[in-house]
Amino acid sequence: MTGSGDNSLFIAKYTSCSVDAVDLCFDVLTWDSSPLAGRTYDVVLDSGLLHCLGPPARPAYLAALQRVLKPGGTLYVLALSDKETSPGGPSRVSREDLEGLLSPAAGWELQYVKPHFWELHPTFWGGKGRAYLAAAQRPAAAAPAAPAGQ
Ligand SMILES: C[S@@+](CC[C@H](N)C(=O)[O-])C[C@H]1O[C@@H](n2cnc3c(N)ncnc32)[C@H](O)[C@@H]1O
Repeated sequence: MTGSGDNSLFIAKYTSCSVDAVDLCFDVLTWDSSPLAGRTYDVVLDSGLLHCLGPPARPAYLAALQRVLKPGGTLYVLALSDKETSPGGPSRVSREDLEGLLSPAAGWELQYVKPHFWELHPTFWGGKGRAYLAAAQRPAAAAPAAPAGQ
């Protein structure tokens, strides 16, 4: 998710990927009625949006992202961690939160949750916030059942 667009611009400039970048041009919670409805992606990157949503909105948000991923596609989430104890800023996300939200029960294959950092304006918290980087795959479509008798 975009903010100033730095991640999107970097990826578009330095890779051969085509990028759709989303911020408050529409509410991601209403993705299915947005101008991008129906498009699907190999990779979705959430940099700093999940932690802006209250816990009740997070499962529906991630379910919407799962629908826009192609089977086998990967979601990366960078979210401010509960290990960040500086005052203020958005709400925090724990490792357990991410493991639950991106669990097999929620339809994901969680690849990892790693301690990371979120780069901020140098005047805010010294330019860094403690974060988690999580990667999870939408499972690839199940192989079609073998024809009867084989
Ligand atoms: C904390 S900023 C992160 C910005 C940038 N991605 C980064 O990594 O620095 C969160 C961004 O999410 C956007 N945002 C928050 N809730 C949103 C929603 N429901 N739909 C679309 N964008 C949203 C905000 O406008 C803001 O730009």
